[in-house]
Amino acid sequence: MRKYLIAANWKMNPPPKGWDAKDSPYRPQEKIEVVVFPTHLDLQACAKAGLTTGAQSGRPEQTGAFTGDVSMQMVQALGCRYVLCGHSDRRAFHLESDAFVAEQAAAAITHALIPIICIGETETERDAGKSKAVIERQVKPLKLTNDCIIAYEPVWAISRGDPNRPAATSADAEEMHAFIRSLLPKDLRDHIRLLYGGSMKASNVKELLAQPNIDGGLVGGASLKPEEFREIVKIASEK
Ligand code: 13P
Repeated sequence: MRKYLIAANWKMNPPPKGWDAKDSPYRPQEKIEVVVFPTHLDLQACAKAGLTTGAQSGRPEQTGAFTGDVSMQMVQALGCRYVLCGHSDRRAFHLESDAFVAEQAAAAITHALIPIICIGETETERDAGKSKAVIERQVKPLKLTNDCIIAYEPVWAISRGDPNRPAATSADAEEMHAFIRSLLPKDLRDHIRLLYGGSMKASNVKELLAQPNIDGGLVGGASLKPEEFREIVKIASEK
């Protein structure tokens, strides 16, 4: 059985109100894993407060002339357990390549961190019918282990949800998740957790998690709303 994991990616936002309260929805839960991804500046406080934390990025090198970056080693030393590798924001704004993302994930494993490797096609790639080819290209260089987690975040489905810009349906997501699972090495196929990310909300989490190949979510916008996030965690815990 793959344990559900619900991750809160706060991106470049301060921790939401009440994040460190006793009954904070961001605290570890019994039935599922809950992990928060604050900015690098808030990581230590979150880890110290007892939240399971991950960094939003980390470089493979241990030290060096990489202005503005932190290394996997530093992330681990702060008390983090997880790290995001290759989020689409990083691929877009920091030009992280498939090869570099693979390097990051390998360095994370070396430093006893669990990488959550983000993959997903853009809207242009989807419109050109290239979704699966892109996913295959992104998965190919990865040196996966049992502990690795993959987050499928179709870029076109991030921050969606109004009727004119619909998010991915659970059927869209499941089709891609099943495809991603088919690409995994046979011995890891049943173990590696596949998270879905892209407008996951309290209103669609139940249906998404009902899909056989969706093992949790990487939640952006809705993770900044404590009561909505509480609902997401509750629904995932009931599954
Ligand atoms: P939204 O949940 O806001 O669509 O963001 C998804 C995401 O990018 C999480 O990493």
